[in-house]
Amino acid sequence: MTKRCPLGVLVSGNGSNLQAILDACEQKNFPAEVRIVISNKAEAYALERAHAKGIATAVVSHGEFPSRGAFEEKLISQLESSKVDFVVLAGFMRVLSTRFVRHFAGRILNIHPALLPAFPGTHAINQAWNYGVKVTGVTVHFVDEGTDTGPIVLQEAVALDEKESLESLEEKIHSVEHRLLPEAVRLFAEGRLRPEGRKVRIGDPS
Ligand code: GRF
Repeated sequence: MTKRCPLGVLVSGNGSNLQAILDACEQKNFPAEVRIVISNKAEAYALERAHAKGIATAVVSHGEFPSRGAFEEKLISQLESSKVDFVVLAGFMRVLSTRFVRHFAGRILNIHPALLPAFPGTHAINQAWNYGVKVTGVTVHFVDEGTDTGPIVLQEAVALDEKESLESLEEKIHSVEHRLLPEAVRLFAEGRLRPEGRKVRIGDPS
């Protein structure tokens, strides 16, 4: 097996998307490996998921830094010392500034639980459900300097049933997320994602 592409995952909470990546990494021939999981919250369950798989973790708590810049410098130095090639935001609830985004330009993926550009920001599943949409979905995108505005890598629609509850919609969305995010990680690690302006072309396997 050729060398696996090393990645860092930033989390803040439950970590079910992290789990999906960790499970995918255990598959034979999966082209990526998680080198470090960093949480901005010490109590995040995601950290336990990482420990259970023997993955290195760090807590970089934003409240302990005098500025956003100092917080992000610490994130960058942790990721660099783990020698990651790219970064996945898997339920990371902090907006990253230009400094961080430029440092890892074109090498940060985020998962968002709606069909962007609809319902950016927090509570996207709730927003879509309250709005009464008939279709919502999941987006994996590159991170740029805006909030949920970067070029779209993968997207999948989820239709709402006539009697859809918020809980059932959440379940549907999460199960799509857990498939789409590892797929995007795989494509990135295989070097198949070719951003051309706003469009991301998916190249053939080399
Ligand atoms: C997911 O719905 C993701 O799309 C959003 O935050 C949630 C994180 O869930 N950005 P988990 O921590 O991965 O379970």
